[in-house]
Amino acid sequence: MLHMGPVILAIESSCDETSASVIRNGKVLNNIIASQNVHQKYGGVVPELASRAHQRNIVPVVDQALSEAGVHARNLQAIAFTRGPGLMGALLVGVSFAKGMAAALNIPLIEVNHMQAHVLAHFISEPHPRFPFLCLTVSGGHTQLVRVNAHLDMEVIGETQDDAAGEAFDKAAKLMGLPYPGGPLIDQYAAQGNPNAFTFPATSMPGLDFSFSGIKTAFLYFLRDKVKDDPDFIANNLPDLCASLQAHLVDMLVSRLKQASDLTGIREIAIAGGVSANRGLRKRLSEMAEKEGWNLFIPEFQYCTDNAAMIAIAAHFKFKEGMFADLGVVPQARMPF
Ligand code: KG4
Ligand code: ZN
Repeated sequence: MLHMGPVILAIESSCDETSASVIRNGKVLNNIIASQNVHQKYGGVVPELASRAHQRNIVPVVDQALSEAGVHARNLQAIAFTRGPGLMGALLVGVSFAKGMAAALNIPLIEVNHMQAHVLAHFISEPHPRFPFLCLTVSGGHTQLVRVNAHLDMEVIGETQDDAAGEAFDKAAKLMGLPYPGGPLIDQYAAQGNPNAFTFPATSMPGLDFSFSGIKTAFLYFLRDKVKDDPDFIANNLPDLCASLQAHLVDMLVSRLKQASDLTGIREIAIAGGVSANRGLRKRLSEMAEKEGWNLFIPEFQYCTDNAAMIAIAAHFKFKEGMFADLGVVPQARMPF
């Protein structure tokens, strides 16, 4: 055990994935994720069902993380958890479990901000972006542009004022009759469609902020008018609809990122969150990187969507700084940096 860094167990339960990860001396040993399928038939995450599923999953997920890592609970030096932002009932399960375990083992607790963890996922494996860098975090719950000065020093320089980017994908997919979550399906159909087949109005927001509620409404009216003339319009144009909508959403994201890069002079560019899996976004970003001289970083997919490995790496940096939480800590549904 000599020369070994801290061994930390991390727990993530902010939305609809129950996840646990063990990290030793900054090296993530595993990333166990139990996804919840109960939400699919409702077309979105149902908070009460998420909370109950976390309660069912948390013990087996933590057990699996510890046993697969070959780590006994008594060898842990800290327990980390997502404090927020997220669904209150979902967060409560992870926070309560972490508090109970830390108290029983008499080891410290580390609270982690879920959004900071999405950014810090870039430090799980090599190569890392250099400081300062810009990170665009895009998922079903969030859309943020973050300026990252150091591991634990970052600021939000732009964010959505309404829906998240992933929500825009999912809601548009729902309007086309696709099942939840529709983002990956739009991505699939878009690959066979023409991105210039249809155009949608641009939404303008001040500064570096985003707004996705306008495009959702515009898309709804667009479909309604087309379907009035041709009831089979959606079925007959699905690839073109998906490709055009995706191109529009990608453009909204990438144009903001370019503005932020121009404004700050930062060319180390990173993306995080579930939407970073989108092939249209990746392609546009690679083209921009080439053109603008960006150094582009996209984490492995398992570290893009919600996962405990990103909580573990964030906890590793906090452990080194002695940043521990009080045993009385409570979850925070809205949690600024
Ligand atoms: O990070 P994540 O797993 O969970 C949240 O924190 O929300 O992100 C899930 C979101 C969903 O909205 C999903 O539709 C979207 O990421 N997503 C995609 C793709 N894969 C996942 N959106 C577009 N294209 C994809 N390939
Ligand atoms: Zn997330």
